[in-house]
Amino acid sequence: MTLRLIRSLAEANAFDPTPKYSDVGVYHVRFESMGTGVQVESRLLDGALRGERIALIADSGCGKTSVVSHVFGPTTEQVAPILVPVRSLEEEATKAEQVADSILSQLRRQAEESGRLAPDTGSRLGRHRHVTNVNRRSKSFATPRWLANANLASQIEQQITTTESNTLEEKIDVIRLCLNSIRNDSLMPVFVFDDTDRWTVGSDDSTIEGFFGEAIRWLAEMDAAVVVATHSRYLDAGLGDPELLTFLDTRVRLPRVPTARDLASILDRRVQFRLNGHDPNERLDAVVDWSAIEELFSEYQEGASIRKVMQLAHIALVETVDVCADKITGRAIKAAVQT
Ligand SMILES: Nc1ncnc2c1ncn2[C@@H]1O[C@H](COP(=O)(O)OP(=O)(O)OP(=O)(O)O)[C@@H](O)[C@H]1O
Ligand SMILES: [Mg+2]
Repeated sequence: MTLRLIRSLAEANAFDPTPKYSDVGVYHVRFESMGTGVQVESRLLDGALRGERIALIADSGCGKTSVVSHVFGPTTEQVAPILVPVRSLEEEATKAEQVADSILSQLRRQAEESGRLAPDTGSRLGRHRHVTNVNRRSKSFATPRWLANANLASQIEQQITTTESNTLEEKIDVIRLCLNSIRNDSLMPVFVFDDTDRWTVGSDDSTIEGFFGEAIRWLAEMDAAVVVATHSRYLDAGLGDPELLTFLDTRVRLPRVPTARDLASILDRRVQFRLNGHDPNERLDAVVDWSAIEELFSEYQEGASIRKVMQLAHIALVETVDVCADKITGRAIKAAVQT
């Protein structure tokens, strides 16, 4: 019985340490449910609703993307998250024009996407659209709720008429127009910059200083919240700190997972979702021995990130299936640590 269970977990890649962005939010276990007494998710959402500019701080693999995709996921209400594709900025991250372009193309992409999936928008705009069951389904899962309002989506689509040859001021004006439409819909726009740290890996600090000093400073004039996910290393080392401090007025620091039981709840969530099971037997303890959790927590206490813990669980899961055992043990985790 559990052989079947553990095999299906392995096939589903249940402990994937780097899941898709949309899945990360679904797997998220709220840090504030872990009894640390620290408000994280609600602090982030409340701050965003108040239009604050927030630094979300944690080391690599410790849950920033997880928190962001949970708090600002597709079903979030009251806020209109604009996920700025930081990855596409690369070396251009120090240029305000590039950030503005990136925001505009993201707004356009999201609005077009939701327009394509909304049957009523298609007829209103006189366009021919096919809406299949498949993309209806993906609409409910992937399109942010704030763009489910076809009117707002088409307003934004029509407002974005700029090209790369427009001046920065013109681009900012267009973004402001879009933000007005969003505010008129009683939503707080939130610019989300995740993964800003990837620029500093192996590069000099001028990128981060340029980004905070120049490139996103104009966002402070906007009627919108800003969330920037950043490594604690930055702030602790004081990199670009004067700029960072004045621009980001709120800091939300992710706590460490306090107990082995809380770490287990993170793995349990993966088991629940990957098996889609309502069967009470399909729980973590049916496939993972407590000795394995203890071993994982001890690695975590020695400094491993949640991503690293997940990776160890993943390696141990594959090994366990390979030897036809039905439960991941502490010994399997120890072996994974050695690899
Ligand atoms: N609170 C949590 N609940 C469930 N899973 C979590 C949680 N925090 C982190 N994870 C898992 O840990 C892994 C790493 O998390 P995440 O990608 O959010 O880290 P990060 O801080 O964004 O890292 P990086 O700085 O490298 O981008 C992912 O597999 C994620 O699903
Ligand atoms: Mg991340």
